[in-house]
Amino acid sequence: MPLPFQHLVSTKQLSREDTDAILAVAAKMERVMEAGGSDLLAGKILAALFYEPSTRTRLSFESAMHRLGGKVVSAVGMQFSSLYKGETVQDTINVIGQYVDIIAMRHPEQGSAEQAASVSPVPFINGGDGPGEHPTQGLLDLYTIQKERGALDGAHIAMVGDLKYGRTVHSLALLMSLYKDVRFIFIAPKELPMPEKVIKVLKEKGIPYIETQELEEGLQADCIYMTRVQKERFENPEEYERLKLKYVLQAKHVQSRAITVMHPLPRVGEIATDVDPLPNAAYFRQARNGVPVRMALLAMLLRKA
Ligand code: CP
Repeated sequence: MPLPFQHLVSTKQLSREDTDAILAVAAKMERVMEAGGSDLLAGKILAALFYEPSTRTRLSFESAMHRLGGKVVSAVGMQFSSLYKGETVQDTINVIGQYVDIIAMRHPEQGSAEQAASVSPVPFINGGDGPGEHPTQGLLDLYTIQKERGALDGAHIAMVGDLKYGRTVHSLALLMSLYKDVRFIFIAPKELPMPEKVIKVLKEKGIPYIETQELEEGLQADCIYMTRVQKERFENPEEYERLKLKYVLQAKHVQSRAITVMHPLPRVGEIATDVDPLPNAAYFRQARNGVPVRMALLAMLLRKA
């Protein structure tokens, strides 16, 4: 099924039909990856523009393009691009769109992805826009929950940490709201609650959620999704220091439970390393899932799948 849009800026563009189609293509792409890749995107070029730090998103996009036989050009760091000289995002994208077939961009400002997509002559993918959204992470998180738990309908998800600035939880909550009988537990310091833009959607759809500051309340869920407190979004470093390790998940919390532990990574202490060997620690498998999901998105937006 072709996706009914050219650019992926926000999870709000996606219907359940779209997410189901992307997850189905991602499952096929996982088999392609395991079989050594294909030449589906031979002759195509991806621009990977990362104006804010990234390890997983950038390298998994690049890996995805290479595994499908395509090529990649990249720009990393604002200071090495003409944005630093004052060029607008729109002009940058308009020019890069003359050089490549598809663009993935991360940018520190919320709304930058929408500005880019509004002028992009080629398919554009939001790789994270400041504290806004991270739709490809949301999709790989859906793929992970489906793989780890067997289904998305009926899922009970606890989200923990910096729910205010953590764009991955915004995208995942919005995507999960497409599924039946989902429930949420939002666990955050009172300074970092899930924003109203997400709560409003859940209320409109009648999706149950509770908000609490107690980590233990999340241990009854099917999945616990830990997040890093987003240091780069704080104006006051003391406030960051005070909040950064309010929640630390340890093996003792989850080792005797059938709860799936997720994290978009990087972690900076929110999950103790004694969780890593547990079979329900899914965060490194989650990171790996970024490759087939991004292979699927590249192929679908280039109308090759
Ligand atoms: N999960 C994620 O977006 O990681 P990076 O910041 O390393 O891309």
